[in-house]
Amino acid sequence: MAEEKKLFKVTIDNISIEVEPGTTVLQAARKIGGDVVPPAMCYYSKLKGSGGKCRTCLVRVAAGSTADPRPMPKLVASCRTNVMDGMVVESMTNNTVLDARKAVVEFLLINHPLDCPVCDQAGECDLQDLSYDHGREGTRYEFKRRTFERHDLGPYIQLHMTRCILCFRCVFAADQLTNTRVHGILDRGDHSEIATYIEKSLDNDFIGNVIDVCPVGALTDRTFRFKNRVWFTKPVDAHRNCSKCCGKVRLWMRGDEVLRVTARKDQWGEVEEFICNECRFEKKKVNDWIIEGPTKVARHSVISAGHYVGVKKPHEALPEVMGGRKPKLVFDIHSVSDVNEAEVDLSLLPGPATNETFNGDPNAFGKNVTDVKIEEGSNKKGTDSTNANVL
Ligand code: SF4
Ligand code: FES
Repeated sequence: MAEEKKLFKVTIDNISIEVEPGTTVLQAARKIGGDVVPPAMCYYSKLKGSGGKCRTCLVRVAAGSTADPRPMPKLVASCRTNVMDGMVVESMTNNTVLDARKAVVEFLLINHPLDCPVCDQAGECDLQDLSYDHGREGTRYEFKRRTFERHDLGPYIQLHMTRCILCFRCVFAADQLTNTRVHGILDRGDHSEIATYIEKSLDNDFIGNVIDVCPVGALTDRTFRFKNRVWFTKPVDAHRNCSKCCGKVRLWMRGDEVLRVTARKDQWGEVEEFICNECRFEKKKVNDWIIEGPTKVARHSVISAGHYVGVKKPHEALPEVMGGRKPKLVFDIHSVSDVNEAEVDLSLLPGPATNETFNGDPNAFGKNVTDVKIEEGSNKKGTDSTNANVL
C-alpha cells in the first residue's frame, strides 16, 4: 500500500488548512481563498522563478512551526516562504502587515506616472486595484519622477517604461515561452529599466503574452491602444483550431467588433493557457472564432460595470401608485446615443478614433506620435502624456 503523504497544517488568519510540504504561504492562502489571500504583483504561478521582487505579499509568521513555535523576526514575502507544520500566519488580521503593505504601495508608486485616465491598462491594472485595497490616500514623495521615452517593440507591442514596476514577469515569460529572449532588465538600482538594449522588436510567436502578464500598463497591445476603455467592451470566451496554441481566448467586443484578443485569466488574474501571436493580433473578426458565450466577470472588477447577469429587477411600483397609468418616457437613450454607430469599425481603423470618426467620417483616425511603424518616431519630449494625438 502506498505510504500516505504527510501534510503540513498551517493556520492563516485563524483559518487552518492542510497542504503538501513545499507549498508556499501564498499558495496555501489561495487554497483558503477570500480576504486572507495576500496581494501579489510579481509572483505568477505559471512562470517558474517568479516572485520575491515586489514585497506586496508580506505577511507575519507568528509561529514558525510546531517544532519551533518562535515567531519570525521580520515580515516575510509569502510567495517565497514555504509552510512548516504548525505554522501560524497573520495576513489581514495584523496591523503591522497592513501598514507595511501601504508602505510598499507608496514605494511602487514613487515613479509610477498615475496616468490612469489615459492608460490602456486602467480598469484591469493590478497596481490600480492594489492601491485602492492597500494604498494610502496621498504620497510623501516630492521629487521629479523618472520618465522614459515610449518604444514600439515591433509591430504589436509598445513599451512605456515609465509605468513599469520591475516585476520581472515579462522577462520570465519571454524566457519560458519563446526561443529567444531579446529584452530584459538593464542597469541597476534606480537606473534599472526594461529594454531591448539595441532597438529590437519582440516578434517571437508567443511574445504577445508579455502584455497579459504585465501587471501595469507598461507593455500594451498596439492593435488595441486608444481604441476603447476596457469597461465599455464585453468579454466573450471563444476558441478556434490553432496549430500553435490552445486557441482558447477571450474576445473583448464592442457591438459586433472584436477590439482585442487576450488569453483567459483565472481568479488570481493569471493567464490560464498562453496563446500565440496569430490568435492574439491577427484574428480580429467574429467569424474567425467559435463563440462560447459571455465571460463570467468577478463582481469586484470594473469590467463588470454594465454587464448585468442574473439581475433581479426591482418591483415596478409606479403604475400601482399612478392608478394603472404608465410613466411617460421622455426619451429612449438608445435611440439618441451616438455610440456604436453601425458604420464605425473601431477595430479596423489603423489608429485611434477621433471626433471626426463619430461626426461624419467613419474612416477618420488619429495618429500615434510614437508609432515607429508609420515613421512618426518616438516621443522625444519624454513626457508622461499618453494621448495618442498630441506631441
Ligand atoms: S514591463 Fe510589466 S511585466 Fe515587465 S517588468 Fe515592467 S511591470 Fe513587470
Ligand atoms: S508577490 Fe511576493 S514579492 Fe512580489
